Amino acid sequence: MYTPEPKTQARLDDLARDLEYRAAHFAGYPCNQNFDYSALTPFLQLVLNNVGDPFRGSNFSSNTHEIEREVITQFARLLRLPEEDAWGYVTNGGTEGNMYGLFLARELFPEGVVYFSEDTHYSVVKIMRVLKARSIMIKSQPSGEIDYEDLYETIRINRDAPVIFMANIGTTMKGAVDDIGKVRDILKQLAITESYIHGDAALSGMILPFVDEPQPYAFDQGFDSLSISGHKLIGSPLPCGVVLTRSAYVARISRSIEYVGVMDTTLTGSRNAITPLMIWLAFQRYGIEGFRGLVADMLDTARYAVDRFNALDIPAWRNKNSVTVVFPKPSPQIIAKWQLASYEDIAHIITMPHVTREMIDKIAAECVQDERARQPQEAR
Ligand SMILES: Cc1ncc(COP(=O)(O)O)c(C=O)c1O
Repeated sequence: MYTPEPKTQARLDDLARDLEYRAAHFAGYPCNQNFDYSALTPFLQLVLNNVGDPFRGSNFSSNTHEIEREVITQFARLLRLPEEDAWGYVTNGGTEGNMYGLFLARELFPEGVVYFSEDTHYSVVKIMRVLKARSIMIKSQPSGEIDYEDLYETIRINRDAPVIFMANIGTTMKGAVDDIGKVRDILKQLAITESYIHGDAALSGMILPFVDEPQPYAFDQGFDSLSISGHKLIGSPLPCGVVLTRSAYVARISRSIEYVGVMDTTLTGSRNAITPLMIWLAFQRYGIEGFRGLVADMLDTARYAVDRFNALDIPAWRNKNSVTVVFPKPSPQIIAKWQLASYEDIAHIITMPHVTREMIDKIAAECVQDERARQPQEAR
């Protein structure tokens, strides 16, 4: 056992205290802080690596592939992808999942044009550069959902190219969902025969399966791949996510690697073996009904937040089935104190399970004070 020098331990203690203070004021990013993975402590003493395809063998057998496969099967059920067609792996997060889906799409349709809305996560523009894929950004509606007229017109002008559509299943700033039912209607109207739909379901991929009237989120509604975050709604101290797709697509890109005896179907080589355990353990803890309850509580808190802000004349709002509460951007002090995400003239709170009504009351009251302080004397 290693005991750090007092000086080293003091550094760690200071850092932990600072991060614990920050955790108590964490209201703007969609990371569930209510988790307990202490049952996994023994695994931190081992060299583990999930290199390679979790569904194929590996010479590097100190891995958690078996658990990773169970995680993928769990998500396949949740996202209505027949188990026998399902393939996926535990990623480093939403960006990797999006890159994987769009990489597959580009491999299937090298001449394809990628369409995504201006509310899409910033990673997608970067992914387009990495993949050197042709892409067109489409206008958004004020709600953050894609503008279907602009999409129709833009695809119409480029009708000769296959369509790769990057759907937002919960945009980063406004929690808006692009309706792929409408997108598929557009493809039909324009007689597009070659298309691929990837869904960035970073947060809402763990919300929509648990609500009564979800917007389309599942494979049987037309998705070809989906990326979901693990460190967002499920909650994890290490960034992670899952990407799911159809195994037939993956066969197009797989290569056998003798050195580690694996099929090279994932984006990175060495992969985290602990995060699959975390996602798996969270599903053991909550089960489907537990997640349904968690989501219902989060939506209740979001409803409460909108009402509370509106009662104080702050025009807060949220999209259907969203836990992202949008309101006018407050002062930099409030943004910094509560770690609120902001963009142009808006900010948001995301009502993750650790965000309490008391926290919302405090933020709303501080926004009111802040607004008063900003008004000129005579207007008060
Ligand atoms: C909608 C959406 N997609 C993708 C991402 C990227 O996820 P990550 O930071 O895990 O790569 C985010 C992150 O906030 C997001 O909100």
